[in-house]
Amino acid sequence: MKLFSPLTLGELELPNRVVMAPLTRMRSGREGVPGPLVVEHYRQRASLGLIVSEGTYPSHAGQGFPGQPGLVTEAQLAGWKNVTTAVHDEGGRIFAQVMHAGRVTHEATTGGFEVVGPSAIAIEGQTHTYDGKEPYPVPRELTPEELPAIVQEFVQASRNAIEAGFDGVELHAANGYLLHEFLSPASNQRTDSHGGSPAGRARFVIEVVEAVAAAIGAGRVGLRISPEHNIQDALETDAQDVLATYGILVDTIAPLQLAYLSILHRDPLGTLVQDLRNRFGGPVLINSGFGVITTREEALALVAEDHADAVVVGRPAIANPDLVRRWYEDLPLNEPNPLTFYADGAEGYTDYPALAN
Ligand SMILES: Cc1cc2nc3c(=O)[nH]c(=O)nc-3n(C[C@H](O)[C@H](O)[C@H](O)COP(=O)(O)O)c2cc1C
Repeated sequence: MKLFSPLTLGELELPNRVVMAPLTRMRSGREGVPGPLVVEHYRQRASLGLIVSEGTYPSHAGQGFPGQPGLVTEAQLAGWKNVTTAVHDEGGRIFAQVMHAGRVTHEATTGGFEVVGPSAIAIEGQTHTYDGKEPYPVPRELTPEELPAIVQEFVQASRNAIEAGFDGVELHAANGYLLHEFLSPASNQRTDSHGGSPAGRARFVIEVVEAVAAAIGAGRVGLRISPEHNIQDALETDAQDVLATYGILVDTIAPLQLAYLSILHRDPLGTLVQDLRNRFGGPVLINSGFGVITTREEALALVAEDHADAVVVGRPAIANPDLVRRWYEDLPLNEPNPLTFYADGAEGYTDYPALAN
């Protein structure tokens, strides 16, 4: 079973190809500092081939959720150091997912920092803040002069992640957050060099990837994308435009030789994903999205039939700290409880049992 065979990602050797998905759990308090419970959660999951952390913010304005951890303050870095040390002590590997929420937040979550995006277009609907549910605000359009500072926030957060002991970072350009907002023609209606054509919309993501790779080494950088996910109003409904935009992105970054490209798409065997995979050339991690929970059979087949180099697994890894063993030996699984995904405390977080020997 190839899923359980080693894989090299940049500078890292994974013992298996089951990658723990980035999973926001909102248990790091107002200060965004991962505490002992967060340490225990990740420590329990160290047998996954690679852990990708929950989305962490590179600046206070980039915070998307109450209780989300950051990579900004000394206390946050010290908290993460405890996490990475625990994972490494258990023999595991862990990347930090660096996530700027862009317009998918509210000033009652960011602590008063202004909500920004590529264009002044709000998402329909409401967001959970520290003050309860609020409608999404209209973001302020970032000026061309501000963009290099945001690139630097990604660079600094990535440096901070390495300092805190992470093996690398995953740049979050998926699921409708800031980087994805630049890619989508619905959320990016800029008329300057960072909007308009596919090349214009891909430009900001390319700048972030290149800058972070130059700062910490391309072999320690992964990129997550979710073309056509059509989530959080970052709509991508023109297949030709999607192929052009993501094609330029992938073609431009391919020579950097990043650690990996992680693609979330409901049809991983389809031409878009497999075309992007070929064009990227390096290791590609696949997740088929939220629609149907990832199964053992799907994961085995994706890797066995060479549609993916590794599989990214979300909800089964929430509920099964020893998922790799259970899948390897084809043992029964715990069921995840969605009511505790974004709740407080240990329930549904650190109390899913591993199987006894
Ligand atoms: C509770 C929860 C939190 C998530 N948080 C993130 C996140 O922080 N960053 C991200 O890129 N994806 C996030 N996702 C998406 C997952 O990484 C994954 O794509 C999704 O769960 C589908 O895979 P699955 O069927 O294996 O669960 C989250 C999903 C869930 C269920």
